[in-house]
Amino acid sequence: MSMLLDQVVPFGRSRREYELMFNLSKKDLIKRILGCGDGPASFNTEMTTDGYSVVSIDPIYQFTGQQIKHRFEENLDEVLDQVKTTPDCWTWKYHRNIEDLRRNRCLVMDRFLADYETGCKQGRYRIAALPDLPFRDGEFELALCSHFLFLYSDHYSEAFHVTSAIELCRVADEVRIFPLLTLAQHLSPHIAAVREAVASGGIKSTIETVEYELQKHGNQMLRLFRS
Ligand SMILES: C[S@@+](CC[C@H](N)C(=O)[O-])C[C@H]1O[C@@H](n2cnc3c(N)ncnc32)[C@H](O)[C@@H]1O
Repeated sequence: MSMLLDQVVPFGRSRREYELMFNLSKKDLIKRILGCGDGPASFNTEMTTDGYSVVSIDPIYQFTGQQIKHRFEENLDEVLDQVKTTPDCWTWKYHRNIEDLRRNRCLVMDRFLADYETGCKQGRYRIAALPDLPFRDGEFELALCSHFLFLYSDHYSEAFHVTSAIELCRVADEVRIFPLLTLAQHLSPHIAAVREAVASGGIKSTIETVEYELQKHGNQMLRLFRS
């Protein structure tokens, strides 16, 4: 357990953050949505409350809510300290400042935890991991991947990114990935390879600017779609 929980910090974002990161329109919201690597985001619970359809997958769903919360609490101060010591790297738009960021991350975690057990029973939180997803071809209309692919480019290879993107395109009509920056705030070196690989399967790609920005210049998403 600690191995997986050590690799990627389980921080979660809200529905409003997902809407801004992925430029979600009213038409997008009514689609059958897959949240890939959703972790402790409150996107699923907030969308479900309003009657929308979201299935979230993440390998951390093999753990209990208490275990996920513990890992989050263990990391929170360290991550926020890193933000504090690198002030030039952040843009305060959605979150007003570091304290607001802390409050928002804790609120999201509380919302996720309140829904987690019910959501697991309803099949809305499912244990699965890229690059192999347990879904039929085209089972979803839209797949969203926030803060996993590209962000962890130093931990996951180009081949992993390519295979994962192809798998997401298999299970969903359209895929959106945000951000395109790595943890070190460089443009991911895997973007070109992903775009070339999906293009050879007839899938188009565009890079779009979105309203959300926390990592400075981290306001772009990759959209993969069949025309
Ligand atoms: C930084 S969190 C982002 C959570 C959420 N997407 C958000 O933006 O609020 C990254 C998530 O990726 C998940 N993850 C790690 N390995 C994965 C894999 N192979 N496939 C899918 N998700 C994975 C982690 O467990 C973690 O929950």
